[in-house]
Amino acid sequence: MPELDLPQRQAPDSLMLTDFWYRALPADRLHRNQLQKATLLEIPLVIGRDRQGQPFALRDACPHRGMPLNCGKFDGEDLECGYHGWQFDVHNGQCQLIPSLTADQKLKVDRIYAGSFPCEEQDSFIWVYIPDPGTPGAGFAPPIKAPDAAPQIEKFSVKYKLAYLQAEMPVSIDHGIIGLMDPAHGPFVHQAWWWRTQRSIHEKKKNFEPILNGFRMSAHTPSSNSAPYKLLRLYADADSITTTIDFVLPNVRTETIRAGKYWFSSLTTVTPITRNQCRIDVVAAWNLFRWVPFVPELLKFVFAKFVEQDRRTMELQAEGLKHNPHLMLIDDADRPAKWYFQLKAAHLEAKRTNGEMKHPISGPVTLKWRS
Ligand code: FES
Ligand SMILES: [Fe+2]
Repeated sequence: MPELDLPQRQAPDSLMLTDFWYRALPADRLHRNQLQKATLLEIPLVIGRDRQGQPFALRDACPHRGMPLNCGKFDGEDLECGYHGWQFDVHNGQCQLIPSLTADQKLKVDRIYAGSFPCEEQDSFIWVYIPDPGTPGAGFAPPIKAPDAAPQIEKFSVKYKLAYLQAEMPVSIDHGIIGLMDPAHGPFVHQAWWWRTQRSIHEKKKNFEPILNGFRMSAHTPSSNSAPYKLLRLYADADSITTTIDFVLPNVRTETIRAGKYWFSSLTTVTPITRNQCRIDVVAAWNLFRWVPFVPELLKFVFAKFVEQDRRTMELQAEGLKHNPHLMLIDDADRPAKWYFQLKAAHLEAKRTNGEMKHPISGPVTLKWRS
C-alpha cells in the first residue's frame, strides 16, 4: 500500500544523538601546544594539540570549581587550571597535582578526572566522540574508549587532493539534515547559469535501499542537466559516471562519484552545536583535475557557492521557524526526511530496549520527484 498521500504534520524534535563521533573543528586551526574552544551538543569543550601533535578534548570546566580550562596554562603536556593550579593529563583528564595539598594530606589526586573525550584527527578535521550523558569521564571516573574510529572519506587512489568548507546555520540539527537531503530545493536555491536553471526542472526517479543505520541512493548516472557533469564526462572520457549517496546516523552524508580511473568523494556532516544551531562541514577528496590549473579552485568555488546558498536559505528559514509553525513532509520529495526521523526514532527505541534496531526501510524503494 502506498504511504499516506496527505502531507504529514511534523515537528522536528531536534534531539541530539549521543554515543557518536562529531566533527569539532578543522585540524589546521589547531596548533601544537595550543588550545581552542568548541561546543558540541551544548557541551563546552577545550580542544588542544600536545607537543607530539596528538589532539585531545576535555570538558571546558575544571572538576574543582568549574573554571573554564581553556583559560589555563598549557605547556604541550599538562594543562594547569588558572584558578587554583590543579594540573591534568590532557589525554585522559587525570589529575596530576593539587598545589594546595600539604605533605600530610592524603587526598588521592590521581582519582580525580577532568571530563575527557575520545578525540581523533581524520581527513582535515578533529573529531570528538560524545558519549551518553552521565557516562564516566569526570569527577572520580576515568574516561571511556570510543567503540569505533571516527568516519573516514573513502579514497580510491594513493594520490588525491583534500579540501574543506564550513558554514554555521541558526537552525536545529534536524532542519540542517533534512535541508541537506532535500532533493526539491535545488532548482530554487541553487540556480546559476553554469549549474541549472528553473526551466531545466524535470521528473526524476531514484532508487534507494536500506543500509546499516541509514539509506543509500543507489549508484546512478548523475543528472544530465548540469554543466559540471557534462564537463566531467568529457574530461574523464568515461562512458559511465556513477554517483552513490549515503546517509547514516547521526549526521553523515557521503557522496562518491566515479568516472573511469577518476573519482570524487565527499563526507558532509551536520553537527549540532546547540539546540538551535548547527554547522555544516563538507570535506571533499578527489583525484580528478589534479593537474589542470585552477580546476581545484573552481571546484571549491562551486562548492562554496552551494553551501552559501544553503546557509542563506536556512538563515531565512530560521525566521519562519521562530514562531514554531506546523510543518509538513510530503511524498516522495520529503521521503528521505521522513526516513531520517524514523531512523532516529528506531535508533533511540533500540537503545531504550537494548535490542536490535528495527530498520524503517524494508527493502529497495523507488522515489519520484521533479527537480
Ligand atoms: S577551579 Fe580549577 S583548580 Fe580550582
Ligand atoms: Fe542545497
